[in-house]
Amino acid sequence: MVLRAYGLNNMYLDYSQISMPIDPDFPRNQQVIGKHMHSDGEHYHFVWGPGKLAEAAENEEVKSAYATRGEEITPLGSHGTMVAVDWDSCVADGACIEACPVQVFQWYRTEQDVPAKDVANATSAGTGSTVKEERKDYTDKADPIREHDCIWCMACVSVCPPQAVKVDQSNLEFHEKASGTFNESLSKGSAPPPHAH
Ligand code: F3S
Ligand code: ZN
Repeated sequence: MVLRAYGLNNMYLDYSQISMPIDPDFPRNQQVIGKHMHSDGEHYHFVWGPGKLAEAAENEEVKSAYATRGEEITPLGSHGTMVAVDWDSCVADGACIEACPVQVFQWYRTEQDVPAKDVANATSAGTGSTVKEERKDYTDKADPIREHDCIWCMACVSVCPPQAVKVDQSNLEFHEKASGTFNESLSKGSAPPPHAH
C-alpha cells in the first residue's frame, strides 16, 4: 500500500515504507535505542528503534493534537521488550490500558508531559494514569512502565486497533541480552546503538 500525505510544515511524507502493526520480530530487526528507568531503582524497559512513520502519523486525531502542541511527529520506536508498544503505531486508543488487569501501562504524559522522544532514556515513577479516557491528549502513548508485572494474559494484544502491542514472554531473552550489552553513552552519542544479540 502506498499512502502519501503532507505533514506538519507541509513536509512531504512518503508512507510507502510503512509496515503497519508492530513488527513481531522487532528484537531481531531493531536495536536498543533507550532505557526507560523505573524510579524504584530496580526495573526498567528498553526502547527499540529506529522507529518509522506509521499509523500515528496518519491518524487525524493524533495529527491534530501534535499540531495544537506545535510538536513534530517523529519516529519513536517501541517501548518494552516482553510487553512492547510501538509508539509509531499507537494512536492513544487506550484499550490496552483498560484491558490490563495488573496496570502494566500508564499514559506517559500524565506523569511527564514532554515530547515522547524525551522519555526514551527518562526515569518514571509509574504515577501516571491507568484509565483509558485520561490520556493527556492524542499525542499520549501507552507506556509499559510495569512491564515486570505482566501476567501474560494477552488481553491488551487483541484490543489494540492498530495492533501496536506485542506480548511475548520469550522475549525475556532479548531483554536480558540487552541488559548485558546496553551502553547508555552510545544511545546518546553519534555511534550506532549496540545490537541486542
Ligand atoms: Fe495505543 Fe493501542 Fe493501547 S493505540 S493506547 S497501544 S490500545
Ligand atoms: Zn517507556
